[in-house]
Amino acid sequence: MKIVAANWKLFKGPQQARDFLQSFVPQLDDNAAEVVIFPPALTMDAVLGSLKGTKSGRILVGLQNCYAKSEGAFTGENSAQTAKEMGVSYVLIGHSERRTLFGETDETIAQKVALVQSLDLTPMLCIGETLKEREAGQTHAVLEKQLRIGLAQAAKKDNLVVAYEPVWAIGTGKVATAEQVAEAHAQIAALLKKLEFEEINILYGGSVKPDNAASLIQLEHVGGFLVGGASLEIESFSKIVKAGSV
Ligand code: PGA
Repeated sequence: MKIVAANWKLFKGPQQARDFLQSFVPQLDDNAAEVVIFPPALTMDAVLGSLKGTKSGRILVGLQNCYAKSEGAFTGENSAQTAKEMGVSYVLIGHSERRTLFGETDETIAQKVALVQSLDLTPMLCIGETLKEREAGQTHAVLEKQLRIGLAQAAKKDNLVVAYEPVWAIGTGKVATAEQVAEAHAQIAALLKKLEFEEINILYGGSVKPDNAASLIQLEHVGGFLVGGASLEIESFSKIVKAGSV
């Protein structure tokens, strides 16, 4: 099944999240893709609360980041173990904003992937090249390095989602062309096969909008979307979910 994920980043407090879900959930039809909401950590409880008792079986919830350990003297961090206890299913790992703004390396990302898998949660690992790397012809090498190191400690070869998000397409309105997406996804699929990962959903992310989602979802190896800006509005996100429900 395709996955359409909403990365709310640092937007939406509890009340805004409740209002969003109250209108969004009833619109989902039975054949919809699997929807995953990644709210800010402090909004998690409100999101899980609003999904309880609704026809929301297809909506799962994820944490946008976690610390590489479940507990300890790590002031200010978020625990994947706690998220699991709350009812979370996914953890987003290695988003480009984490890598560039918060200095995350492939090595710390590898520890997080391993921890999340050990808790039986699903890591959604984000990878992608910068514009400079693309222009220097390094896209393939960058994707390979991010996957090789990021997955080096993964114990399970079937509990993973990968999100390909070219850094230059995130929040810029510049969506990658169908050709670029098809090429990168084929490379990622081949790399995952080489690393012996099986049947992994590869999502595309980076300025996904209602008007480009329908054509991108048709591409081979595109298993859904990770949506930032357009996931904040019910109308645009619903349209993308619909486009991704093929
Ligand atoms: P965008 O963000 O859809 O606003 O480009 C995607 C993401 O950061 O995951």
